[in-house]
Amino acid sequence: MHLIPAHLAVLIAAPLGVSASAALTPRQNQRITINLSQKYQTIDGFGFSGAFQRANLIVNLQEPKQSEVLNLLFNTTSGAGFSIVRNGIGSSQDSSRDYMNTILPVCPSTSSGTPEYKWDGKDSGQLFLSQQAVKFGVKAFYGNAWSAPGCMKTNGQDTNGGTLCGVSGTSCRTGDWRQAYANYLVKYVQLYAESGVNVTHLGFLNEPDFSTSYASMLSSGTQAADFIKVLRPTLDRANLTHVGINCCEATGWNVANQHAQEMISAGVENMLNAVTSHEYTSRIGSPMRTRAKVWQTEYSDLSGGWSTAWYSNGGAGDGFTWANTVFNGIVNANLSAYLFWEGIQDRATNNNNNEKLILIDGQNYQVSKRLWAFAQWRVVRPGAVRVGVSGGSNLRSAAFVNVDGSVAVVVINSGTGSQTVSVAGWEAQGMQEVRAWLTDNQSDAKEVAVSVATDGGASAVVTGRGMISFLLSAPAVGNSTVF
Ligand SMILES: *[C@@H]1O[C@H](CO)[C@@H](O)[C@H](O)[C@H]1NC(C)=O
Ligand SMILES: *[C@@H]1O[C@H](CO)[C@@H](O)[C@H](O)[C@H]1NC(C)=O
Ligand SMILES: *[C@@H]1O[C@H](CO)[C@@H](O)[C@H](O)[C@H]1NC(C)=O
Ligand SMILES: *[C@@H]1O[C@H](CO)[C@@H](O)[C@H](O)[C@H]1NC(C)=O
Ligand SMILES: *[C@@H]1O[C@H](CO)[C@@H](O)[C@H](O)[C@H]1NC(C)=O
Ligand SMILES: *[C@@H]1O[C@H](CO)[C@@H](O)[C@H](O)[C@H]1NC(C)=O
Ligand SMILES: *[C@@H]1O[C@H](CO)[C@@H](O)[C@H](O)[C@H]1NC(C)=O
Repeated sequence: MHLIPAHLAVLIAAPLGVSASAALTPRQNQRITINLSQKYQTIDGFGFSGAFQRANLIVNLQEPKQSEVLNLLFNTTSGAGFSIVRNGIGSSQDSSRDYMNTILPVCPSTSSGTPEYKWDGKDSGQLFLSQQAVKFGVKAFYGNAWSAPGCMKTNGQDTNGGTLCGVSGTSCRTGDWRQAYANYLVKYVQLYAESGVNVTHLGFLNEPDFSTSYASMLSSGTQAADFIKVLRPTLDRANLTHVGINCCEATGWNVANQHAQEMISAGVENMLNAVTSHEYTSRIGSPMRTRAKVWQTEYSDLSGGWSTAWYSNGGAGDGFTWANTVFNGIVNANLSAYLFWEGIQDRATNNNNNEKLILIDGQNYQVSKRLWAFAQWRVVRPGAVRVGVSGGSNLRSAAFVNVDGSVAVVVINSGTGSQTVSVAGWEAQGMQEVRAWLTDNQSDAKEVAVSVATDGGASAVVTGRGMISFLLSAPAVGNSTVF
């Protein structure tokens, strides 16, 4: 941490970080400059899921391990500081295997009949996880159904695809279930609200371009729009105007782009909070063609064996790879949120692969460097606006202005040697405190020394293939609305 008296901010002379190792390896000194007038997208946050009963792994942990894992996920100073929790809205009849049970195991005999909801107060462990997140100050909860209950679908089951009865292209003997599905989702939001969790975002599809043996429901963007036209007014009538609709969780970016264009044609773009996509079948390229926000809501390395490496020749599960994956989405593709897949998972599932950030193995746990890659983004809080930043070779930089006026700068060193990074362009803003944290193959978001030079510029050393995050804070009282 480096404290700067406001009136002296640009007058302090401090040597740029020089250490013994600098004498051995010539260290490059790089300057990057923030442009606070160049404004880009607003960030909603970073997140993960505990769907398919993975949240129960935390429920079942004893103290102090339970608190340790919760801090690793949500603490904004000692953990990843995640700000969005993506919960699966169950559609299964029961909780066999890792299924998520529904609040409507049996439908009324007609679509206009009175539903008998059954709330178990657990929601596959996700309610507990969410309530704990609330204690850490998390404000965004994304309820996302993989499917409607089977009784509302063309195939009569919540698995193996099928389509919601009532959207275009369907003709169900039991009629149009769109209103019943919208009511059901509203009920879910209300049940969470009664338990102290504010569901802020709602999704009604997951990978609707993929039919599989677990909960799944097929939809095009046009069919999604048919439902959104019912869901939006239903939420509004229930005084849930603050709940944003996300759609459609495509398996990949190309399909999501198609969904977006179909929803735009169908006239529902302004009813959307975000177009959502995964990155499995096609990776994020350029910004999506939509005026809605765009979120990447699920991605992970599904094939690699469990790895806690920061850098192993650029493997798909490496922390460093994830630092760059998130960077690409936020900086090159205008994303407002990046969500990993499972935050936690056991050893047995999927051959102990890399689809989780933390391995929970009975009463023990192991943390991957992927979690620490996300932790480097924790300086970027919900509501932050991305701003311009330029300069530096072998550096990938992103800058943001947080709602409280602080400036967050995230820098990845793509080179293999240490570099001193000097951040300029913030000095006139009345900042009083400069701090920085580093993750590399040895450090986990470890606080490092920052110095401030006579000509301005907050400098710190970032090791080869390291990632450093700066937080430049405005005075706590007064003069904080300089932007
Ligand atoms: C900063 O961004 C603004 C807005 O895009 C632009 O007009 C200005 O030229 C930029 N300043 C610098 C120094 O690049
Ligand atoms: C976050 O971690 C810090 C450092 O361990 C601790 O002091 C603080 O209480 C934690 N915050 C919460 C909300 O638990
Ligand atoms: C729920 O979240 C919305 C959006 O952030 C906010 O406007 C609303 O006040 C919150 N409601 C409660 C009860 O916290
Ligand atoms: C919505 O809020 C209004 C104003 O507070 C209230 O009169 C109305 O009963 C509420 N409607 C529902 C469905 O909760
Ligand atoms: C970025 O996303 C915002 C919505 O968050 C949108 O208004 C803007 O047009 C997008 N910009 C680009 C370049 O796609
Ligand atoms: C960490 O990475 C640096 C730079 O890539 C390398 O020189 C060093 O040997 C690595 N250390 C370990 C413990 O892997
Ligand atoms: C705000 O900044 C101005 C100029 O540096 C200074 O004169 C004033 O005392 C500051 N106000 C507060 C409340 O810190």
